[in-house]
Amino acid sequence: MADYMDTTSQEHSLSRRTLLAASALTPALSATGTAAQTTPSNGKVAIVTGSSRGIGAATAKRLAQDGFRVTVNCVVNRDLAAGVVREIEAAGGEAIWEQADVSDPASVRRLFDVTERAFGGTDVVVANAGIMRLAPFADMTDEDFDHMVAVNLKGGFNTLREAARRVREGGRIFTTSSSITTLRSPTYGPYAATKGSMELFANILAKELQGRMVSVNAIAPGVVATSLFLDGKTEQQVAGFVQRTPHGRLGEPADIAAAISLLCSQGGWWVNGQTVLANGGIV
Ligand SMILES: NC(=O)c1ccc[n+]([C@@H]2O[C@H](COP(=O)([O-])OP(=O)(O)OC[C@H]3O[C@@H](n4cnc5c(N)ncnc54)[C@H](OP(=O)(O)O)[C@@H]3O)[C@@H](O)[C@H]2O)c1
Repeated sequence: MADYMDTTSQEHSLSRRTLLAASALTPALSATGTAAQTTPSNGKVAIVTGSSRGIGAATAKRLAQDGFRVTVNCVVNRDLAAGVVREIEAAGGEAIWEQADVSDPASVRRLFDVTERAFGGTDVVVANAGIMRLAPFADMTDEDFDHMVAVNLKGGFNTLREAARRVREGGRIFTTSSSITTLRSPTYGPYAATKGSMELFANILAKELQGRMVSVNAIAPGVVATSLFLDGKTEQQVAGFVQRTPHGRLGEPADIAAAISLLCSQGGWWVNGQTVLANGGIV
C-alpha cells in the first residue's frame, strides 16, 4: 500500500493513498489468500522465511497484494516456492524465491544479500519458518528436540540478527510464536519452549531498535489448517480444536497473513514489542 509504514509522515490527505490503505486493512479476501487484483508497488520490500507453503505462503502473497516486493523462502520445496512467486507475478506483484535453511547463519545472510541485490533493501522481515514435533517428555527423541531448536530457536535468532542489522527505518519485524505458549497442552513442551522464545526475542529486539522507528512483534497463531498442524492428528482431534474456537473453524493461513498485513499498515506501527495472539479466540 502506498502509505505502508509511512510513520514519519504527519499528514495524510483523503486520497488514493488513504483508500489504498483502507483496502489493506480489510480482512483476508479468501480462505486461500489468493490476491484478487493487481496492486501498485509501495516501494517496500519484505522477506518471509518459510513461505513455500502454509502461513508463510499466504503472508508472502498478502504482502505482495499490499504492494511489497517479496522474497519467498523454502528449505526443500523449491517447486512450491517457485509456484508462490508465479502466483504473485500473475496477480501483478514482484517476487523472487531463494532456498535457504534458516538454521544456517550463512544461508540467512545470503537470503538477505539476494533480496538486497534484487530489490535494493529490506523493510519487513517475517521470521515464519518453523517445524513442530510432538511427544510427551518421556518419548521425545534427541533428534526431534535438536531439530526444533535448530530451526525454530536458532533459525529465529539467525533471521532476527540479520533483520536487526539491515531492516530500514520505519520497518517491521515479526517473529512467529504460537498460542500454545498460553494453551500449554501435553506433548507440546519443547515446541512451546522454542515458540515462547520468539515472544522474548520480539520484545527485547523492539527495545534494542530504539530510534529506528522499526516495530517488532511476535505473531502467535492458534490452530491453523496447514500440514504443520494437521499432520498426525485424527479428525476427532481436529474437531476438538474447532469446538474450542469461538469462530467455529480452524484458522486459515490467510487469517494470519491478514493480521501481519494489518500490523504492516501505517496504523499498525504503535503495536511494538508485543505478542499478538491471532487465534480466533481459542485462548
Ligand atoms: N499451523 C499452525 O497451527 C500454527 C500455529 C501456531 C504457530 N505456527 C507457526 O507458524 C509458522 C508456519 O507454520 P505453518 O503451519 O505454515 O507450517 P508449514 O505449513 O509446515 O510450513 C512450514 C514452512 O517453513 C519452511 N521451513 C521449514 N524448515 C525450514 C528451514 N530450516 N529453513 C527455511 N524454511 C523452513 C517450509 O519450507 P519447505 O516447504 O521447503 O519445507 C515451509 O515453507 C511456524 O513457525 C509455526 O511454528 C503454526
